[in-house]
Amino acid sequence: MGTGGAARPPARARHQRVDWVGVFGERPGEQPPLEPSRLLCPVCRNPGPDRPPYACPACGELLELVHPAPPVRGAALRARLAARPPARHDPRTTSGVWRFSELIAPGLEPAAAVSQREGNTPLYESRALAAFAGLARPLLLKHEGMNPTGSFKDRGMTVGVSRAVALGARAVACASTGNTAASLAAYAALGGLRALVLVPAGGVAPGKLAQALAYGARCIEVEGSFDTALALLERAAAELPLYVLNSVNPWRIEGQKTIVLEALAELDWQPPDAIALPAGNLGNTSAFGKALAEAQALGLIERLPRLLPVQAEGAAPFHRMLERGAAELEPEPEPRTVASAIRIGRPRSWRRAARAVRRTGGRSAAVSDAEILEAKAAIDAAGLGCEPASAAALAGLRRLVAAGAVPASARVLCVLTGHLLKDPATTLDYHAGPEPGPRANRPVRVPAEPAALLALVERELERG
Ligand code: F0G
Repeated sequence: MGTGGAARPPARARHQRVDWVGVFGERPGEQPPLEPSRLLCPVCRNPGPDRPPYACPACGELLELVHPAPPVRGAALRARLAARPPARHDPRTTSGVWRFSELIAPGLEPAAAVSQREGNTPLYESRALAAFAGLARPLLLKHEGMNPTGSFKDRGMTVGVSRAVALGARAVACASTGNTAASLAAYAALGGLRALVLVPAGGVAPGKLAQALAYGARCIEVEGSFDTALALLERAAAELPLYVLNSVNPWRIEGQKTIVLEALAELDWQPPDAIALPAGNLGNTSAFGKALAEAQALGLIERLPRLLPVQAEGAAPFHRMLERGAAELEPEPEPRTVASAIRIGRPRSWRRAARAVRRTGGRSAAVSDAEILEAKAAIDAAGLGCEPASAAALAGLRRLVAAGAVPASARVLCVLTGHLLKDPATTLDYHAGPEPGPRANRPVRVPAEPAALLALVERELERG
C-alpha cells in the first residue's frame, strides 16, 4: 500500500521483527482479504493497513472500515431487509423456550409470554475438556450461562412468570442462592410484577446480588442458609398472596426441560450417552428426567442418555443417599462448598430427581472444592468460562470416567449452568488471591515506563 516503514510507530529495532499477521493467527500472506471493504482515515481519507495501531499514517486518527454501497437503496433496500424479518414479536421464533411451547405450556399463549429471547444457547464441542475428563470423543457443552441474566434459570422463569401473569398474581417470590433471584427479578420487572427474593446473608456471589438489586427486586437477606430461607418463604406464602417461583413450582420445571429439548434438537435427536450437570435443589435434574422421558414417549428419541448429577462434597445429601441405596434423603444440616449456587443441604426435588437417575441408568457424583476449582480453571482457560457450580459437572464427569462408571468412549453432554461473571470474587481469589490455585494465571504489574513494558512483552512473546 506504499505507506512504508516511515508510518510505523516508533519502536526499537529488535521489536520490528514482530510479525503482526502471525500474531493474529494467520500465516503471512494468508490474511482474509479486506476487499471489497476498505480501511480509511475518516478525517483525511488516507488508506491505512489492517493491523495495529489502526491509525492514519498521515494524521494519526483511528481508521474506519468503509463498505461499498449495496446494489439497491431506499425502498428497495428496505424491502430487501424486510424479506429477512427480525422476528421481533413472536416468542415462538425468538425464544429457545417458547419454540417448544406445545411441549411445555400448551395452555399459555406464547404471544403473551414474558420472554426476552432466553434459550438458543450455544452448544460447543471441546477436545481439550474431553481430555480433561478422560474422554476420547469431544465433549459437548451446552452453555446456559449465555441466557439473558446469565444462567439456566431464565428458561424456567419465562414460563413461571408468564404463568403468574396469566393467574393475575401481583407479587412473585423465591428463596435463592442467587441465580433464581436474579432471573426472577428480571422477569418480574419485564412482566410488571413485584418481586421479593430471600437470599442467605453473605452467601450469594456478588454478580447475582447486584443483578437482583438492579432489576428492582426487594432483596431480603436471611440470617441463615438457603434451606432456612426457603422454609421461611413457604410459611409466609401460605398466608400472603405470593406466587412462589422456586423450582418446586412446576412451570419452572417445564421451562427448564427445554435445555435438554434444545440440545437434542441440535444433535438431530441423536442423544448423547450421558448428560452431566451440577445439582443443588435438584430441580434441574428433575426437569431433565421429565424432558427425556417425554421425548422418548413422543418418539422424539429412541434411547435415554444417562443422567449424571454432581454435587459438592460438603453439600451432597443426594449423592450419599444414592450411594448407600437409602430410601430417604438425610439432609446435610451445614452445607459447605465454594460453589455457593449449590450450597444446599435439604434439596426439595430429591424424589423426582432420584427417579430420573434411576430411569436413565444414571449415576451421581460428589466432588471437592479443589476439584471444582480445577475444572473451572480448565473451562475458563478453554475460552468458555463458567461459575464454580457449573464446573462441578465436569469435575464429577472426570471422577466417573476415572472410576470406570462412564466409559472413555462415551459421547457426553455437560451443562454449564451459569456465566463466569456471576462470581468474579471466587475467580479472582483463585488467580490473584493470597493462595492462588494450581492453574492460576497471576496478574503482573509494571512500572509506567515504556522500557519495562517492552521487556515484559518480549519475554512473554518468547514463551512461545
Ligand atoms: N448451577 C447453578 C449455576 C445454579 O444456580 C443452581 C441452582 C444449580 C446449578 C443447581 O440446580 O438447584 O436445580 O439442582 N441455583 C438455585 C438458585 C438454587 O437459587 O439460584 P438445581
